[in-house]
Amino acid sequence: MSEKTFGIIKPDAVGKGYTGEILSMIEKNGFRIAGLKKVRLSKEKAEGFYFVHRERPFFNSLTDFMSEGPIVVMVLEKENAIADWRKLMGATNPADADEGTIRKTFAENIERNAVHGSDSPESAGIEIPYFFNQLELV
Ligand code: RTP
Ligand code: MG
Repeated sequence: MSEKTFGIIKPDAVGKGYTGEILSMIEKNGFRIAGLKKVRLSKEKAEGFYFVHRERPFFNSLTDFMSEGPIVVMVLEKENAIADWRKLMGATNPADADEGTIRKTFAENIERNAVHGSDSPESAGIEIPYFFNQLELV
């Protein structure tokens, strides 16, 4: 049974021109790209997306970062997509990430960490429709 997850290539990685290399890693690791687009978040839209982190000390800095430039949003599909995409991303802090992961390869630090991935089926079910309608998922 295939599963869908939601991912973002964050402003640091898009700005440094890593979009193509990250998409290539995604395809080489067996994900089907079901939805893909480049957008720019407003501060408000970034705050809505990271609403679960609103009480965290890094919330203001995180939402400034996520709205500083364009991002690439995507829906990725494969068996076990949610866990496998988190594994390919690597640990939140690139210093702790395994060799060969996206964050180890491209992330600057714990905040500017190149990519996002849904952490559960419930999160994926909220995050996918935050950016995509049914016609955009093929
Ligand atoms: P994400 O939600 O972006 O996929 O990342 P994650 O699950 O690995 O990490 P999470 O705990 O959900 O944190 C969300 C994002 O907030 C930034 N962050 N900054 N300064 C800090 O200590 C700190 N901790 C987290 C990162 O951009 C992280 O991905
Ligand atoms: Mg998270």
